[in-house]
Amino acid sequence: MSEKLYLDAPNIGDLEKYYLNQAVESTYISTVGPFVDEFELNCSKYLGVENSVSTNSGTSALHIALHELGIGRGDEVIVPTLTFVASVNPVIYCGAEPVFVDVDIKTWNMDITALEKAISAKTKAIIPVHLYGNPCDMDQIMRIADKHGLYVVEDATESLGAKYHDMYTGTIGDMGCFSFNGNKTITTGGGGLVISKYRERLKHIKYLVNQAKDYGVEMYHSEIGFNYRMTNISAALGIAQLQRLKEFLQIKKNIHHIYNKELGSISNIKLQAQYDEGDSSWWFTCILMDDERARLQLQDLLQISGIPFRRIFSPVHKFTPFKDCRFSGGDNAETLYKRGICLPSSTLNSEEGIDYVCQVIKRFFQC
Ligand SMILES: Cc1ncc(COP(=O)(O)O)c(C=O)c1O
Repeated sequence: MSEKLYLDAPNIGDLEKYYLNQAVESTYISTVGPFVDEFELNCSKYLGVENSVSTNSGTSALHIALHELGIGRGDEVIVPTLTFVASVNPVIYCGAEPVFVDVDIKTWNMDITALEKAISAKTKAIIPVHLYGNPCDMDQIMRIADKHGLYVVEDATESLGAKYHDMYTGTIGDMGCFSFNGNKTITTGGGGLVISKYRERLKHIKYLVNQAKDYGVEMYHSEIGFNYRMTNISAALGIAQLQRLKEFLQIKKNIHHIYNKELGSISNIKLQAQYDEGDSSWWFTCILMDDERARLQLQDLLQISGIPFRRIFSPVHKFTPFKDCRFSGGDNAETLYKRGICLPSSTLNSEEGIDYVCQVIKRFFQC
């Protein structure tokens, strides 16, 4: 294959350069500037919500969302163990305890039975993670949250553009958080977004991320704030990327379609399944091998064939800082970690490139 393959590289073109140049020329490259408001407005329009607040990362978006809901010492927050560690660290930043639950082996998302069992008198919130763009079973999660009076903070950092029923992920729970890191479906270099059902809470978040700066009173800060603002230069990039989101989602869908068509019928491979109500954004297409040995052997073949890949996330409850936290039990997350491989999913890849990946994997199975 002469063409370079990309795992998750961003797709930056002339439109991005145009907006970035405007930001640079205007001298507004930092945390003040018109592109920030415009980006928030455009994100809100796309998601069909009244307002949104941009941040400097998805991690800070999750932190400020939990903080705003008053999550703190003595509280428990339920998280899936199969996720990126940044879904969980914000719980610790708030002084609360993460409680880990296993995932469903087919969809790779939070297991609903484990979730309900993990609820205690201390539970305050649930963080469903729409892993690799695949929407969680939100009907069940919202039903359980309502029944027990819990907040739902959706970690939609990987799932911009994914839908559950006809709602975008992130718009279903009490708060929704997105990431625009360099490897996400759209990027601002580094950045994030918070949306919420509660207008006043979102207004307060806008104030908190700006060091809790009181407007109208000079140099006065009546609360402990955060420097979590998105920069104007990031927002400039975001405005261009958001204009191309539809195009990127279509390419991701097509990449998944090719993998599914070529590899879906191989009995030794499983792809991530969707709930009937879900419509994944396919941020990443990943496959599950029969066992760990096969995963290691396939990795070797991918490597010598010049195909970039990465492993599935490692179960977070096993990391040293979380070793004393409660875990529901179960080994699906561990199985997925041991056997899974994420395939090239960048929108920079051509159909021929994805075809080549499929041919190499088929060669591995001699089919
Ligand atoms: C599931 C998940 N949660 C949270 C984050 C944090 O986002 P960021 O890297 O923008 O801080 C990421 C992405 O990196 C993620 O994949």
